[in-house]
Amino acid sequence: MNSCVLLKCAGQLCTAMRICRRHHCLIIVAFGATILTFIALYHDLTSELVGGPQHMAADSVSVILGNESQGKGSTINTTSLRGHGMNHLVLQSKIPAGQKITKVWPEKCKARHHIMFLKTHKTAGSTVLNVLYRYGDHWNLSFALPVHYQFGYPSLFRATWVKGHDTGQRFDLMCNHMRFRLSEVKKVMHPDTFFFTILRHPVEVAASAFSYYKSTASAFRNVSSLDSFMQNPLHFFHPGAQGNNYARNLMWFDLGLDPHKKPTQTELQKIFTSLDNIFGIVLLADYFDESMVLLRHALCWPLDDVVTFKLNSRSNASMAAISQETAVRLRQWNSLDWALYFHFNTSFWHHAARFGLARLDAEVQELRARKKVLAAHCLQGSAVEGRIINDKRFRPFQLGSVQILGYNLKPGLSREEFTRCSRFILPELQYKDRIYVRQFPSKAQARINWNHTIGSPLRRPPVGKAKA
Ligand SMILES: *[C@@H]1O[C@H](CO)[C@@H](O)[C@H](O)[C@H]1NC(C)=O
Ligand SMILES: *[C@@H]1O[C@H](CO)[C@@H](O)[C@H](O)[C@H]1NC(C)=O
Ligand SMILES: *[C@@H]1O[C@H](CO)[C@@H](O)[C@H](O)[C@H]1NC(C)=O
Ligand SMILES: *[C@@H]1O[C@H](CO)[C@@H](O)[C@H](O)[C@H]1NC(C)=O
Ligand SMILES: *[C@@H]1O[C@H](CO)[C@@H](O)[C@H](O)[C@H]1NC(C)=O
Ligand SMILES: *[C@@H]1O[C@H](CO)[C@@H](O)[C@H](O)[C@H]1NC(C)=O
Ligand SMILES: *[C@@H]1O[C@H](CO)[C@@H](O)[C@H](O)[C@H]1NC(C)=O
Repeated sequence: MNSCVLLKCAGQLCTAMRICRRHHCLIIVAFGATILTFIALYHDLTSELVGGPQHMAADSVSVILGNESQGKGSTINTTSLRGHGMNHLVLQSKIPAGQKITKVWPEKCKARHHIMFLKTHKTAGSTVLNVLYRYGDHWNLSFALPVHYQFGYPSLFRATWVKGHDTGQRFDLMCNHMRFRLSEVKKVMHPDTFFFTILRHPVEVAASAFSYYKSTASAFRNVSSLDSFMQNPLHFFHPGAQGNNYARNLMWFDLGLDPHKKPTQTELQKIFTSLDNIFGIVLLADYFDESMVLLRHALCWPLDDVVTFKLNSRSNASMAAISQETAVRLRQWNSLDWALYFHFNTSFWHHAARFGLARLDAEVQELRARKKVLAAHCLQGSAVEGRIINDKRFRPFQLGSVQILGYNLKPGLSREEFTRCSRFILPELQYKDRIYVRQFPSKAQARINWNHTIGSPLRRPPVGKAKA
């Protein structure tokens, strides 16, 4: 990076910023990895480009300098500049007196920052959460936070469980676990809120839920393996018994639907139509990178904002292979989830087709490439078990006997890099605490166990001091 100004942008999160000195301004426009710098006369600046989270949708953009109607403007098309390893390339262009930026392509779509993410269980939701936490953290957006870890789950959501709801405030973002109830969510969110959620193949969900909630769900407690459970599930499963929402049709349950009543085909279609109307997009954990690309277009965010490292995953040792026979039984056992997945898998790929499969694939490759670069820059190796994460603040919450993985940061990062990198690997509980501290500074002290969390700002441990 070439200047302190660009450091602030960190190659990703900023869009357009303006630094003025006397009669000159520097306008920095960052689109993904592409950074353009314009020098302009102060009084000629259009205010359009500056202030607030107004990302352009695409990594490519054209800017016309000058008077378009006279056809004298020069066009800079950043697409043509890409592929030159130009992560930090700075292009400077003088805007002559009397001219101004008259047009920006593509049509500016306004980055959404009123968003509700329904975080479902065992569906890579923690990784999505990190995307939203990072984004909201950067733009100082307000989060509807639960008083505790979750919004009263497994009860249906109530607006009164949102911290600060009594002030009548509407929140920008909402993303913690809940059992969805739209009418209550609407009470605390802006009217133009964008809703999305994520689903996963029901067999994978069931297998993950079994290992994670082995001691939480009463249906799982007395059974040694998923295979034995599936041989006679009704022997162990009693509807409504403690934790049994995790044992059958978990995604259906999380969406706030009734798990005890088998809907007719007509009722099922009605349910799907209603969900289609609520959720702007339904992602698939099984196609996570594709999901991130489609999401970032739906939200009008830069690609770098959806670069992630997988969070809260199980160790390989915690994953038992699923027999073909058990897989078939699981599909029947979770038939409501299966219907749900079938419907949204179809609509996901329709969405992808409208977007363009080749275009999607190209952007997925780009996303993976950026992830690799970031990993090489930030991480020491791949995901590891919590107990061998040196910096305790990065150790994820563990439940039961499953090993939940996290990351070690590369030693020797500069302070800025440490701050930037740590946001990608900060486990969700710690990140929630961090947001909490920012949002409720006076109440935070009493509530947060500082030994396990990170206040604001994230600091690199003192160099030379032994790590825990
Ligand atoms: C652009 O040129 C047209 C035609 O010469 C003129 O009417 C208009 O005022 C100019 N606009 C600016 C912003 O200079
Ligand atoms: C910018 O360049 C790309 C690739 O060369 C091209 O596809 C696109 O149409 C150009 N955009 C404009 C507005 O000229
Ligand atoms: C962040 O937002 C809060 C309100 O949500 C506000 O009080 C605070 O001043 C903001 N901080 C910055 C740095 O913009
Ligand atoms: C588990 O088995 C024990 C002993 O057989 C029994 O007492 C208990 O009720 C069972 N628990 C559940 C949740 O079925
Ligand atoms: C876990 O399994 C995956 C896929 O088989 C493999 O790529 C990965 O390296 C394994 N991770 C560890 C830590 O062994
Ligand atoms: C999901 O949809 C794709 C594309 O239509 C299809 O190839 C795939 O088999 C579907 N998956 C399931 C589990 O239905
Ligand atoms: C935090 O750590 C300090 C020193 O290790 C310890 O004395 C204290 O009890 C801890 N606080 C909590 C709340 O765990």
